Amino acid sequence: MSRTENIYAVMGNPVRHSKSPAIHSAFARQCAIDLEYSAIEVEPGSFESAVRAFREAGGRGLNVTVPFKLEAYRLADNHSVRAEQAGAVNTLRFEDDGLTYGDNTDGVGLLRDITANLGQPLVGQRILILGAGGAARGILDALLEQEPRELVIANRTVARAKDLEKLFRPFGDIRGCGFEDLRGKRFDVVINATAASLQGDVPAVSENVLETDALAYDLMYGDKPTPFMVWAQGRTTNTSDGLGMLVEQAAESFFVWHGVRPDTQPVIEALRKGA
Ligand code: ATR
Repeated sequence: MSRTENIYAVMGNPVRHSKSPAIHSAFARQCAIDLEYSAIEVEPGSFESAVRAFREAGGRGLNVTVPFKLEAYRLADNHSVRAEQAGAVNTLRFEDDGLTYGDNTDGVGLLRDITANLGQPLVGQRILILGAGGAARGILDALLEQEPRELVIANRTVARAKDLEKLFRPFGDIRGCGFEDLRGKRFDVVINATAASLQGDVPAVSENVLETDALAYDLMYGDKPTPFMVWAQGRTTNTSDGLGMLVEQAAESFFVWHGVRPDTQPVIEALRKGA
């Protein structure tokens, strides 16, 4: 396939420092697929027109990140089951018949990173998710499938956490609450799905939500440790910054677009070394 026919990108804001172009280029080399993959920063309110322009320029597929995952869901004509359950989309595929297919690879990406790469089982564990936006929605279904002992969503705006509780209750034992309701509760796995890091903030949770040796995981990877990572590193030795998830969700998107599953380990290792 010629270069101009295989055009992909990630859209978000901020997105300039995204690792996705490097990850997809590495997968493409590994699988001998010729493609272009760029990062496009989109102003709030301009997502739909940006997608249209990208498509008109020959774009075949997009990754979608903060803050456009819910808009991407609305824009897609057809959805995978997991995107349907999440109500959020991080992968768009533009079909030859003009329709747009929306998928969500975040949940499976997180799951592969936590269970396979980090070797942390989730079955029977007490899991806390901080945040109730698109990032949280994308991972709930995959986490519930692991049958944790407890899955709690805590959010600054309590109503949004309660909404997710209602939406996902048919799929497992899940509870929504505010940060202050966590007082006295401890968890084996705490996942930061808030956008607080973008403002340099840490969600206002109590000191003691982390059980001894709990896994603290940040969905939002940054070149520097996020404020949540810094907070967690002072409280547990078991932290992970989301780089593995970034690569795993990208691998699943790559599969959605190209039908080939790349090997993620060499790419994770190269990124860790700063390649
Ligand atoms: P995303 O798609 O990244 O989830 P979002 O839908 O805008 O983006 O959701 C952002 C999440 O981060 C929300 O849970 C938000 O809390 P609210 O629902 O109360 O807005 C959370 N968030 C953002 N900034 C935060 C902060 N400074 N402290 C705590 N939570 C924050």
